[in-house]
Amino acid sequence: MPYLLHIDSSATPGNGSVSRRIAHSFRDAFTGPVVHRDLGLAPVPHLTAEGITARSTERAEHTPGQATAQAVQDELIEEFLGASAYLFTVPLYNLTMPSVFKAWLDQVMVFGRTLDAGASPPSAGRPATVITARGGGYGPGSPNHGLDHLVPSLQDILANPRMLGLDLRVIVPELTHAPVVPAMAELVPLHEAAMADAHRQAVQQGELLAKRLAA
Ligand SMILES: Cc1cc2nc3c(=O)[nH]c(=O)nc-3n(C[C@H](O)[C@H](O)[C@H](O)COP(=O)(O)O)c2cc1C
Repeated sequence: MPYLLHIDSSATPGNGSVSRRIAHSFRDAFTGPVVHRDLGLAPVPHLTAEGITARSTERAEHTPGQATAQAVQDELIEEFLGASAYLFTVPLYNLTMPSVFKAWLDQVMVFGRTLDAGASPPSAGRPATVITARGGGYGPGSPNHGLDHLVPSLQDILANPRMLGLDLRVIVPELTHAPVVPAMAELVPLHEAAMADAHRQAVQQGELLAKRLAA
């Protein structure tokens, strides 16, 4: 049965998280099976030396530590490869991705399994949506323009055909601090417009994905 793999990575639970709220709109519009992993609630372990050496060691020769580390990778990789589509919520933390999301990527991206040097990866062409959220504004003309190291890196990691090769769309609700930071009060209308647009895109992409997977 094809499923959508939905991965959250905000440390903020529930509706306090903008990226989770936008993802709710996507999920409400998407009708189909979903496997949900909440990295904010239950982070996966960081990749260790045992995890790295396990990849190039015969399983029969694994130490107990390598076997444990291998089991973590196996579970995450099987969950990733078993999906037909992906929904990632990845807020901007310190100009890049939350460490829990990076830890998940480091466990999942393995040559010979999810990556293939010189050939298409098994996930090539699968639809994926990233919903990010950020406190400031990073558009042209803003003081932060050029400082967003999240969206460009996710595009390279998730969508480059030599990496995971996903068919990626990105939704970016920004200025999420405007309603709570007095110095940003004049930006509230821009924030509200970005939120409305993000919810609209999420609904549209959820509906499109449901049709695409049903076809
Ligand atoms: C640890 C941390 C680091 C952050 N770093 C940035 C940053 O570099 N730039 C920015 O615009 N916002 C930053 N923010 C604000 C978040 O991007 C913003 O609150 C966003 O809405 C978080 O997503 P969420 O609402 O889904 O949790 C940071 C927030 C946290 C908790």
